[in-house]
Amino acid sequence: MESIKIGLLGFGTVGSGVYSILEDNKDKIESHIQKKLEIKKILVRDIGKQRNVDVPKALFTTDAADVINDPEIGIIVELMGGIETAGGYIKAAIANKKHIVTANKALIATQGDEIYKLACENGVELRYEASVGGGIPIINTLTQSLSANNVDEVCGIINGTTNFILTQMDEQGMEFEEALKLAQDRGFAEADPTSDIEGEDVAFKLAILIEVAFGIKLSPYDIPREGITKISKRDIEFARELGYKIKLVAAARRKGNSLEYHVQPSFLPLANPLASVNNEFNAVLVRGNAVGELLLYGKGAGSTPTGSAVLGDILEISKIMGTDYKAGAPLRNENKGFQLEGEGVSAYYVHMSAKDKPGVLGRITSAFGRYEVSLRSVIQRSRAEDTVPLVFITHETERARLDSALKEIELSNDVSKIESVLRVEKK
Ligand code: NAP
Ligand code: HSE
Repeated sequence: MESIKIGLLGFGTVGSGVYSILEDNKDKIESHIQKKLEIKKILVRDIGKQRNVDVPKALFTTDAADVINDPEIGIIVELMGGIETAGGYIKAAIANKKHIVTANKALIATQGDEIYKLACENGVELRYEASVGGGIPIINTLTQSLSANNVDEVCGIINGTTNFILTQMDEQGMEFEEALKLAQDRGFAEADPTSDIEGEDVAFKLAILIEVAFGIKLSPYDIPREGITKISKRDIEFARELGYKIKLVAAARRKGNSLEYHVQPSFLPLANPLASVNNEFNAVLVRGNAVGELLLYGKGAGSTPTGSAVLGDILEISKIMGTDYKAGAPLRNENKGFQLEGEGVSAYYVHMSAKDKPGVLGRITSAFGRYEVSLRSVIQRSRAEDTVPLVFITHETERARLDSALKEIELSNDVSKIESVLRVEKK
């Protein structure tokens, strides 16, 4: 049987998952592709580090050239993370005619087009299924199964760490920091978890989904985004009381000739299927003009769920190696002349701490009125020291209008702090 040699760049959470799946499911994999797969070299930073899977020490190297210049290696699997170093190694490997598999959303969202072009010029595959949604096959679904559709909406929970934190805060009453530590211990978080909790990781993934689903190249840094660091247990309690769950939602929706997109913590009504997606699970809802609504659900982070998606890519490439067939997941910047609208309009939840004095509520509602922000409901809680928590749910409005009203309200003497502002989804 022909043997395909693989080089791994990185052997952390995902790299070790790939190795274990390949060991555990060897027979099934080899009979499926009718070829042998062999991991020939593994790049790491520290060869002496304790690993949680048994690997012959001789496979490890700290010299990237041992992997990317090895003439026997046909597929390079980049699982290091980071942009510049990982990108440099991938480009060098492509120049050496190696096929590429990566789980690196930061790299694909920022340099994907350049790397894809290079891969095409060199006649090699670039695949990145694991970069969005961990084990969920969302890239393949969009690029292959749904390729006859015009996509109208892609919306989902696509970060395991933040969803784990929000679930633990809601269901176990856990503090933010404790839940984050647990997510890190379980291997869900990025090397720098700021990227998760500030919504950057989600913006990378949404930029990839927008390109794959709508053919529009968008910088992830141009996507309006907010993370979950300002969400308090009090917000979670208000959400529960009002019949919602708070989730970090990424969405891109076509409205006529324009595209709206955002990454924001949102109030989701309990009837929304995304409201019951918990812990490290992710879900992506796709609406295509032929298929209608489709919901993909599964583990969005972790060693073997992500390793499963990486191996799916490796197997697809292995099957076509030595043939002229190209199966790659295309990045397609077709620029169809969409108006890029940013976050569009939404209803919002606003939580503020207000001074407990006569006339305050009236002055705040008047300020909203001056900016034409119409209010759907108001909740005032009992006094806590000299401030009272005030919660407003607005009707649909532009975020800029709401922000102007809140700026005026915050500058007044009536409010000590705007605690949080979250989108409220209709259904
Ligand atoms: P990780 O646990 O931090 O592992 C990173 C690995 O890369 C380690 O083995 C490290 O070596 C090696 N490495 C990093 N920088 C290096 C350098 N400059 N030179 C040589 N080796 C280097 O990361 P991970 O969680 O597996 O994530 C890997 C990639 O997958 C990232 O792009 C991440 O965004 C993506 N991803 C992760 C998940 C997940 O659930 N964790 C899910 C989907 C996608 P040492 O072991 O010696 O430190
Ligand atoms: N840090 C990411 C997450 C890993 O928590 O979703 C999966 O991409």
